[in-house]
Amino acid sequence: MIKVALTGDRPTGKLHLGHYLGSLKSRLELQGSHKQYILIADIQALTDNFHLGEQIASNTLEVLLDYLAVGICSKKNTVCLQSGIPALGELGWLLMNLVSVASLERNPTVKEEAKQKHLQGKMPAGFLCYPVSQAADILAFQADVVPVGADQLPMIELANEIVRKFQRFYGEGCIKEAEAKLSNTPRLPGIDGNRKMSKSLGNAIYLCDDNETVAGKVKTMFTDPNHIKATDKGRVEGNVVFSYLDVFYSDQGHLNELKSHYQKGGLGDSTLKGILSKTLVEIISPIREARNKINLKDAVEILHQGTKEASLVAKSTLDKVKERMGICRICSP
Ligand code: TRP
Repeated sequence: MIKVALTGDRPTGKLHLGHYLGSLKSRLELQGSHKQYILIADIQALTDNFHLGEQIASNTLEVLLDYLAVGICSKKNTVCLQSGIPALGELGWLLMNLVSVASLERNPTVKEEAKQKHLQGKMPAGFLCYPVSQAADILAFQADVVPVGADQLPMIELANEIVRKFQRFYGEGCIKEAEAKLSNTPRLPGIDGNRKMSKSLGNAIYLCDDNETVAGKVKTMFTDPNHIKATDKGRVEGNVVFSYLDVFYSDQGHLNELKSHYQKGGLGDSTLKGILSKTLVEIISPIREARNKINLKDAVEILHQGTKEASLVAKSTLDKVKERMGICRICSP
């Protein structure tokens, strides 16, 4: 039987090269071989940004356009919107009973995010519980695989713990464990050398950036602070330009030559950055052009249809879960 894959994104802004490398490329590889649900998790995005609802709504459209622009095909995938699938919320609420507050407080991803976002002492209950909502996403669609980055592993582990507990109390054959598929691409650093590319750090190259913007961002990249003149010997380790070339430059043989040239001296930063700009523009400009050609109405229709289809699937799982849990059906919708 064809396997189900589920991925999701919080719509916190337009997608950037880090998303492209870390998740969009693997979704493109999975389309066709898997039944793939791609969830825009706008309700989850609210859990630490409850005052930014309108922005999350406009980001939702940007993310949708980015998906379509990179080649996510609506015929091969179900692109859907979390807030349009009420069964997910209901399922999450039921699953909440199988999870202890202590285990949520111990969740390393929640802890790390809370620290970064200064939420200690004022953490919204919705934020503390978002891993349960995410478990509901995973279980509602009966996902077999969830392609994720390492930071999301505790979420899948929690979903699987819920499944095991559910099965102990209510039996098997209703919800099932999912397998995390870790992406093997290295994390793309930001243009400032920070280990993570992110909108909030202001160090991202976006999939809709124009060529001048890309080149301008590459110019600001951190290289080797001791490589001042082109003739100076340069360092490759920790040099952000080389980190990018490592993942995006297609001719790795030539890249090795560039590296030894740089180390020996004689290869200037501006020449090197020119090579990277060209490499990135070749990737980004077709995506940007495809994005500009998308009709917004058509894109919204794709999201509508996908959400409708996903709602049916999630509702069917929810009904089974309710039945197993013995919930009174007298007033069932
Ligand atoms: N937590 C994910 C993120 O921060 C988004 C997400 C929501 C998700 N639901 C999901 C990811 C289900 C995988 C599966 O981007």
